[in-house]
Amino acid sequence: MNFQSDQIIGSSPAFLDLMDKISRAAPLDRPLLVVGERGTGKELIAARLHFLSKRWDQVFQKMNCAALAPTLLESELFGYEPGAFTGARNRRAGRFEAAHDGSLFLDEIGTMAMQAQEKLLRVVEYGELERVGGSETVHIDVRVIGATNIDLPAAADAGDFRHDLLDRLAFDVITVPPLRERREDILTLANHFGSAMAHELEWLTFPGFSKPATEAMLDYSWPGNIRELKSVAERAVYSCWDGEEPVCGLVFDPFDSPYRPGIAGANTAITRNATNEHGSTPNTDAPDTLPSSFDHPVSLKKETAAFEKKLIEAALTSNRYNQRAASKWLEISYDQFRHAIKKHNIDCS
Ligand SMILES: Nc1ncnc2c1ncn2[C@@H]1O[C@H](COP(=O)(O)OP(=O)(O)OP(=O)(O)O)[C@@H](O)[C@H]1O
Ligand SMILES: [Mg+2]
Repeated sequence: MNFQSDQIIGSSPAFLDLMDKISRAAPLDRPLLVVGERGTGKELIAARLHFLSKRWDQVFQKMNCAALAPTLLESELFGYEPGAFTGARNRRAGRFEAAHDGSLFLDEIGTMAMQAQEKLLRVVEYGELERVGGSETVHIDVRVIGATNIDLPAAADAGDFRHDLLDRLAFDVITVPPLRERREDILTLANHFGSAMAHELEWLTFPGFSKPATEAMLDYSWPGNIRELKSVAERAVYSCWDGEEPVCGLVFDPFDSPYRPGIAGANTAITRNATNEHGSTPNTDAPDTLPSSFDHPVSLKKETAAFEKKLIEAALTSNRYNQRAASKWLEISYDQFRHAIKKHNIDCS
C-alpha cells in the first residue's frame, strides 16, 4: 500500500509560493508547463493541477513521451486507422481522445519528435487531430499539462523543439524548486516518509531520526531531490531493527560497497564523485578517470586544467553542443562557460 502517496508536503516559503501558483493556474483552461529537476514532484503537481481544475471529475491521462519510439508515440497519442501500419487492423483512439473533457499529462515533453510536435500544436491550438493513417478530423477538448527537466527554450534555440509550440504550451510555467533551495522542507519530508515506512512495518510509533542523521540530511545536496530523500528515509527506517531508538544510519548511496562491480580503487571514486555532483547517471561521455600512475613531478595546475577541459567537452557532447544547456549541466553561468571555452581553446562548431 502506498501510504498517503499523493500528498504534497512542504512548508518552506518556496514551497508555499509554488502551491500558490498552482492554485491560481489550475482553474484556468490553458496549457501549462511544469519544469524542474528530476524527482522534484512534477508529476504530483500535474495531478494537483488537474484535480484543482474544473475538469477534476473527468479523466486525467498520463503519457511519458520518452517511453515510446517516435512513430509509436504518435499513434499512441493521436490514435490510428485500420491499415495505418502493419498490424493495425482496427481503428484505435489515442490518448487525446481518451482524455476528452479531461487533462492529458505529457511527461518528458522535450523528447517529443518534431512530427508529433506539429500535431500537438494543432491539438492545443484548435482542438483538432487526425488519427495516424486517417483524414477525418476529430475534435477534442483536452487540457495539456507538459513536464520536463530540460531547458525547453534552449532546446528550441537548438532546433529540437518548436518555438511556436513552446509559446503555446508556456501559457504559464510552473518551476519547481530543487530540494536544496528549500531546506526547510527536508526534515518535514523525511519524517513524513519515515513515519509512512514505520506504519508499513507495523511499528507502534515512529521515534524520528537521530540528531546526526538529521544533520547529515540537512547537509546533503539531494541531486535526486524528493525521490532520493524518500528512498534514503525509507531505507534508514527499514534497516533499523525496531522503533525504539531514533533512526540513524543513513545510506545515501545504496551501491556503495567494496565489492561493487567495476570498482577499482581511486579511479571509480573519481567517476562516482563527479556523478554525484551533477546528479546524473554515469554516461559514456563523462570525463576519463584518473590514470593509474602519473609521471612525476605532477603539475596540479596542468592536471586540473586538463580535467576541466574534459568536463567541458563532456558537457558539450552530453548536451548536443547547446552551450546554455552545457553550462547548466556544469552548474556554472553561461558567461563562465564561454570564458572556459575560450581559455581551453575548445572548438564548439
Ligand atoms: N512535495 C512532495 N510531498 C510528498 N511527496 C513528494 C513531493 N514531491 C515529490 N514527492 C514524491 O517524490 C517522488 C518523485 O516525484 P515525481 O515523480 O512527481 O517527480 P518528477 O519531478 O516527476 O521526477 P522525474 O523528473 O524524474 O520524472 C514521488 O514518489 C512523489 O510522490
Ligand atoms: Mg516525472
